[in-house]
Amino acid sequence: MNGAATAAGAFARRFGSAPEGVWAAPGRVNVIGEHTDYNGGHVLPIALPRTTRAAVGRRDDGRLVLRSLQHPGADADVALPDLRPGTPPGWAGYVAGVVHQVAGSVPGGLSILVDGDVPEGAGLSSSAALACAVALAVRDLLHLDLAPGDLVDVARRAENDFVGAPTGILDQSASLLCVEGHALLLDTRDRSSEQVPFDLTAAGLALLVLDTGTTHDHAASGYGDRRRECEEAAARLGVGLLREVPDVAALDVLADGSAEGDRLHRRARHVLTEEDRVHRVVSVLRSGADPRSIGPLLTEGHASLREDFAVSVPLLDACVEAAVAAGAHGARMVGGGFGGSAIALVDAGAVDAVTAAVADRFAREGAAAPRVLSAVPSAGARRLA
Ligand code: GLA
Repeated sequence: MNGAATAAGAFARRFGSAPEGVWAAPGRVNVIGEHTDYNGGHVLPIALPRTTRAAVGRRDDGRLVLRSLQHPGADADVALPDLRPGTPPGWAGYVAGVVHQVAGSVPGGLSILVDGDVPEGAGLSSSAALACAVALAVRDLLHLDLAPGDLVDVARRAENDFVGAPTGILDQSASLLCVEGHALLLDTRDRSSEQVPFDLTAAGLALLVLDTGTTHDHAASGYGDRRRECEEAAARLGVGLLREVPDVAALDVLADGSAEGDRLHRRARHVLTEEDRVHRVVSVLRSGADPRSIGPLLTEGHASLREDFAVSVPLLDACVEAAVAAGAHGARMVGGGFGGSAIALVDAGAVDAVTAAVADRFAREGAAAPRVLSAVPSAGARRLA
């Protein structure tokens, strides 16, 4: 059974009638451009083949009733006027955070059944996939006048304001705007975007996602700390966003000999060098040169996230190191950091060798082998049925 039929069937069993539609939105990996989105810089994500599906129907009792096949014991059933941050809690908050924003346009209430295969807690944006699937569903079903960029904001506000996760717009933009066979070059400052051809298969390449299976307790607080450090660095440099700093030399004034100054200098240096790496990767992809040559830029990005931005963890470093030693053209951690996944760019014929080498290294580190997915650049959010 396909994803739409599974979600529609489960909806019918739970709610007693067929849904009015099924919508899907993918998870993402970012090829390059990490921690640039809240600094006004560029990002270059692709959508994953894995999606979250939302089967949706209207109801007439003024309630929002939610079920997730991934969270079977955690249904939610809330009167629309009672929606507020924290109510309902957990996974349902991402859905409620979207519905809350359009509650005035919801005639009687909504039944929503969620199913999906984006791994949770792996840094692959399962939460944005959920919010984006629901945002697209309510837009279509309620005939709301919302452009794709507006939906990005609806999904982001659900995470930021309702759930309380202070994300930028990378994840939601990737989930809503990516197209198959392309990476999305997004300028997070003016929101302009461009689809950059990224056909890995034709080049005999695979982009592996290696999920380390670790998420550190301080992931959320660490992310907030980095945002504040970037804001502080920008304030000391007299710019609104670090993106506006002309070059790395202009950061020298931050390094005033204090530990704090040195820290801010390194954080800002990551943002500026990462912004430069985005443009270098894009010029390789646009030039028609062998995409293998983006590999060293990915590995350089990892070193910068580890040394300057300090968001990596030993298992992610081991993963990158083992993948590159086994022949990957490049590898880096992806997402917010403090755990989650790494990507590795490998020849199609070397997938097994790289996977085995990483598993072997993890065993030596006392960790279970990472879950491996292949990141084929896939379609963004869409209506399935
Ligand atoms: C998380 C956030 C994104 C982005 C990345 C880092 O995934 O949700 O907005 O900041 O971290 O690039």
